[in-house]
Amino acid sequence: MHDPLQYEGKRVVVTGAASGMGQSCATILTELGAEVHGVDIKEGPAPVAAFHRCDLGDRQQIDETVGAVGGPVDSLFNCAGLPTTAPAQQIVLVNLVGHRHLTESMLAAMPEGSSIGFISSGAGMGWMSNLGPLLELVATPDFDAARQWCLDHDELIAPNPYGFSKEAINAYVAKRGYELASEGIRLNSINPGPTDTPMMPSFVESIGAEFFEKLPKPLGRNARPEEQAWPLIMLNSPRSSYTTATNVFTDGGFSGGLFTGSIDFSALSA
Ligand SMILES: NC(=O)c1ccc[n+]([C@@H]2O[C@H](COP(=O)([O-])OP(=O)(O)OC[C@H]3O[C@@H](n4cnc5c(N)ncnc54)[C@H](O)[C@@H]3O)[C@@H](O)[C@H]2O)c1
Repeated sequence: MHDPLQYEGKRVVVTGAASGMGQSCATILTELGAEVHGVDIKEGPAPVAAFHRCDLGDRQQIDETVGAVGGPVDSLFNCAGLPTTAPAQQIVLVNLVGHRHLTESMLAAMPEGSSIGFISSGAGMGWMSNLGPLLELVATPDFDAARQWCLDHDELIAPNPYGFSKEAINAYVAKRGYELASEGIRLNSINPGPTDTPMMPSFVESIGAEFFEKLPKPLGRNARPEEQAWPLIMLNSPRSSYTTATNVFTDGGFSGGLFTGSIDFSALSA
């Protein structure tokens, strides 16, 4: 079968294309024959058709990037992110508010059958128990209103800004994915466990090496970046045409163990 994932000749956008999982997505998508537009604050080694320098915490830069990319956009890969070591409000601004603005702004250029995929995180796993405030944030009409909501609700964000940003991505994917289904546009996320990218040392620095040593790894190791890129590429492929508004765990079996009681998270966090 030729072009099984149907990316040949497609125009795709990858945020975070300079490093880690985004770099892996950009490299594989180029190999699959897509025209890849990389978006990042810095340029990286991935072979992209065009690079757009953009700080995803800055509304004006996002608007300029959307204009520069143009259309059509067949698939959007939202891979960029700030880790736990960044300032709290900036984490939510980049990971959720800026990416949501990019996504909503690009929709006008996305034809029926197109797709959007986020890289969320295992850190966003508990989003359904925090639904009230997350849906309030997701319901804010635009970038400025969402940023203001975050400033006004700092007490919800400050204890775990990275986890909050990833919970908010999962809530956005579920809510907006449901709405976009009737327009034939799909929206999903992957929720990775620990993955060996340049971001990994930031997690170890802020959460502690002991936590990651104790963290059960059913597959016996951390993921490699391409082991996260491939499931996202699969989810965004037209081959996943009946999959939308869902958050897929790509954590090497961790969530399965947690949900069925084989992993005791309270012992881990103690
Ligand atoms: N590495 C892990 O263990 C892990 C686990 C779960 C989820 N994640 C998530 O995976 C995604 C990819 O991270 P990674 O591990 O590949 O890390 P990475 O640091 O290798 O890549 C992140 C990329 O995002 C870009 N970026 C950061 N801030 C930006 C901004 N303001 N505007 C534009 N680009 C910006 C960086 O320049 C970098 O290229 C992130 O969303 C991260 O939260 C990572």
